[in-house]
Amino acid sequence: MFPQTRMRRLRRRNIIPLLAETVLTKNDLIAPLFFDEAVSEPLPILAMPGQYRWPVSRADAIGKRLYSAGIRAVLIFGIPKIKDPGAFGAFAPDGVVQQVVRSMKAACPDIVVITDLCACEYTDHGHCGVIGECQDGPGLVNDLSLEMIQKIAVSQAAAGADIVAPSCMLDGMVASIRRSLDESGFLEVLIMSYSTKFASCLYGPFREAAGSGYTFGDRSGYQEPVTNRREAFRESELDAAEGADILMVKPAGWFGDIISDIRQIGLPVAAYQVSGEYSMICAATAQGWLEERKAVMESLLSLKRAGADLVITYFAEKVCGWLDEEQ
Ligand code: PBG
Ligand code: ZN
Repeated sequence: MFPQTRMRRLRRRNIIPLLAETVLTKNDLIAPLFFDEAVSEPLPILAMPGQYRWPVSRADAIGKRLYSAGIRAVLIFGIPKIKDPGAFGAFAPDGVVQQVVRSMKAACPDIVVITDLCACEYTDHGHCGVIGECQDGPGLVNDLSLEMIQKIAVSQAAAGADIVAPSCMLDGMVASIRRSLDESGFLEVLIMSYSTKFASCLYGPFREAAGSGYTFGDRSGYQEPVTNRREAFRESELDAAEGADILMVKPAGWFGDIISDIRQIGLPVAAYQVSGEYSMICAATAQGWLEERKAVMESLLSLKRAGADLVITYFAEKVCGWLDEEQ
């Protein structure tokens, strides 16, 4: 009680850093990157200022640049030249992601290459697997889609991915991928599952970034409703039981309660600060309404405080620069 207790003693300038309960380091960061098979120069993503679709030919240089900035891990998205119902480009041996992984690992063997494992950038209808007639009309057919996802997983591992990151929210996805990877001899490839991925408006700018807008329906038949906290936990719990190595909550900033729940499962947890979260901060700072560095650091520290071990953020490279200045 006051006056013995004075919380403001803890706020003395030199005491504050000493007592920080939460820190953000470069080791926590994962940088997402988009590679477009059809471009020869970086193509700016208008809804995500400062982000680009990179040509495949730049994969080696970008890997080296990020690694020397202190980034340990990247998350690769590919945009193929040709889309088709069978997502052929996703598991072609010379597909866009396969080429990027090979050249980045050759140039920079120590960087952890994570591949987004989904079909929606490769299907002409834009959905995350095989479409067929379902109970509610045309939709994603779960078990046929699993076979597609398994093929993509093995192909990405064969190209040299360290971690595959399935983002399709299919039932049984982690168990099927683990089985296929093991059968193909990729026992050491990790699975970072997008285990609790909400059906969120915050993926809006990603549609432009990855050219993965769907032509009908939406993703509410497979992604988690934002209203459901206990169900969100079960989604991650099941993926843990199926053999996931790392769990993920996505989006991140509006879902701190979910991150703190899922941390209790005991596996490492990644929080994905998605395109819409990035764009909101960029838009407000461009107007002068928020200070960029403070807004970004606060948003990422709040994810660590909620219980994330890793943060996936489009600000990763910028944050490395700021962390260097703090030293
Ligand atoms: C693909 C995928 C999406 C994102 C990551 N992987 C889009 C979606 O599910 O609609 C979103 C990432 C972002 O918005 O930054 N399944
Ligand atoms: Zn998808």
